[in-house]
Amino acid sequence: MLTQEKSIQVAGFALMDEAESMLRSGHIQSGMDRLILGMNKIQQNHSPSDWEIFTKSDCLTHSLKTLIHQCPFTYHSFSKPRGYAGDAELIDYIYTLKLLPDDLTELGREILNYTIDTPAPRSVRARRDILAETIDAVAAASNHPIQILSVACGHLREAQKSQAVQSHQIGKFYALDQDPLSIELIDRELVEYSIQTIPNSVTALVRKKLTFENLDFVYAAGLYDYLSQPFATCLTKVMFDMLCPGGRLLLANFVPNHLEVGYMETFMQWNLIYRTEAELEAVAIDIPEAEIASKRTFFEKEGNIVFLELVKN
Ligand SMILES: C[S@@+](CC[C@H](N)C(=O)[O-])C[C@H]1O[C@@H](n2cnc3c(N)ncnc32)[C@H](O)[C@@H]1O
Repeated sequence: MLTQEKSIQVAGFALMDEAESMLRSGHIQSGMDRLILGMNKIQQNHSPSDWEIFTKSDCLTHSLKTLIHQCPFTYHSFSKPRGYAGDAELIDYIYTLKLLPDDLTELGREILNYTIDTPAPRSVRARRDILAETIDAVAAASNHPIQILSVACGHLREAQKSQAVQSHQIGKFYALDQDPLSIELIDRELVEYSIQTIPNSVTALVRKKLTFENLDFVYAAGLYDYLSQPFATCLTKVMFDMLCPGGRLLLANFVPNHLEVGYMETFMQWNLIYRTEAELEAVAIDIPEAEIASKRTFFEKEGNIVFLELVKN
């Protein structure tokens, strides 16, 4: 009888053999479909510890890896050139704003075109659009120039989509990120919009070394997916306390079991902290009910990212 650990190797290698032969014979779409669906099934059918051993070692010894890593989006995530997962350059592949490498192969281009149009990247684009729409809605509803803070702003790509930012209707836009390269890009590319960049970690907010007040809108997208529940709970309270009466807090998080978890955790080595709707709602547990004028959760159109929105009394 196969042990559990052996059985994951057998299933994984059979899947990768099949996907490799499909890619080598030019069947990119069906080969990638097979790989993504198959990896998800393997993840769901095995214990977390067997899955972890498989993703961290076994699966990376297969020759399929050299084909898949011709996709610059997948390889960027795997190699982590900035030393951490989910940097803003990686997200720029999803926004189709990243300059492609000169040595990109035809296979790499085809896999890239496939991977950035799968449901999870579509959700990331939808998330950016929701941020831009919310900035515009908060600006339109206010009778004063609004103050915004984007926490873990990356390249602040929602600013390019926001009418209110583009037409200089924002009073003050603070953009905080720990990555100096992302901050430099905003300073360079968004100079005409007077964004005030803050090169700092969210830890400075939680420790109250850095504070803001009277904000009309504070939000974090692509950050909570990396935060433990206790840290996320502290940060949520800190962000909420920065709001003016009527101010809005918006948080986003990927939900568990979306289609690409298996692919992300193997060939991309991109592990997120997933939250259900209830788990995201629970990060607001330290905020007294009396301070909350309204609370709602909702999903973007693909259903892979859940949002929590709180309005302050
Ligand atoms: C996935 S990107 C999201 C960027 C952007 N918010 C978006 O939606 O496109 C995550 C960003 O979080 C930033 N980040 C991660 N941990 C952080 C921390 N502890 N403090 C500040 N920024 C952080 C990273 O530098 C990166 O720019």
